[in-house]
Amino acid sequence: NQRGIIFDLDGVLTDTAHLHFVAWQTLAKKLNIEFTIKNNEELKGIDRMNSLQYILNLSDIKMNLEDKHKLCEEKNSHYLELIKTISSKDLFNGSTALLTDIKAQGIKIGLASASKNARLVIKNLGISDVFDYIADAHNIKNSKPDPEIFLKAAEGLGCDPKNCIGIEDAKAGVSAIKSANMKAIGIGCSNELSQADMVYKHLKNLKLESILAL
Ligand code: G6P
Ligand code: MG
Repeated sequence: NQRGIIFDLDGVLTDTAHLHFVAWQTLAKKLNIEFTIKNNEELKGIDRMNSLQYILNLSDIKMNLEDKHKLCEEKNSHYLELIKTISSKDLFNGSTALLTDIKAQGIKIGLASASKNARLVIKNLGISDVFDYIADAHNIKNSKPDPEIFLKAAEGLGCDPKNCIGIEDAKAGVSAIKSANMKAIGIGCSNELSQADMVYKHLKNLKLESILAL
């Protein structure tokens, strides 16, 4: 009956959204597409190609797949530059304490991130060693809200999904957790994340006792 807690990365343990925003906005400008911070909110938890498609849909630009791949790569090179500056200072307050408390209870810790850069980001944050299993966009076929990434993480942790809890900041992520038959904790706005079993505004408000009470 091994228990597991599975974390999303971007928006749960650190804020990379503003860096994704800078990179996408630069690309959008080149394409003459207006891309606002409000648009960027819609891209939380959405994988790279689907994010590009969202931006293209703000215009009437049609593009073949090869060109889309090129643009994704261009955005990612810029993003890779931007995440070089990430360090342990960028961990959200309370993350280290929470992760330490979980470990001390013998609960497994998993990562379920739609980002292909997840391993690099956790390395820069200095928390690579914390995770017992990492599921990212490299080892799944179906992106959130499909439950695949959370199920994969549970399997990797050797936990039954019903003994797992997922933590997410994105609506699509909370849906993925619920479809995986896990309890979901939302980080962010309770109206938006109404599908979650509990919602906290910030990770720092979340204590292990409340997780275990689920
Ligand atoms: C996370 C972020 C999304 C991002 C996605 C893919 O889910 O919340 O905004 O688009 O990862 O990231 P990647 O690093 O693979 O481009
Ligand atoms: Mg997220």
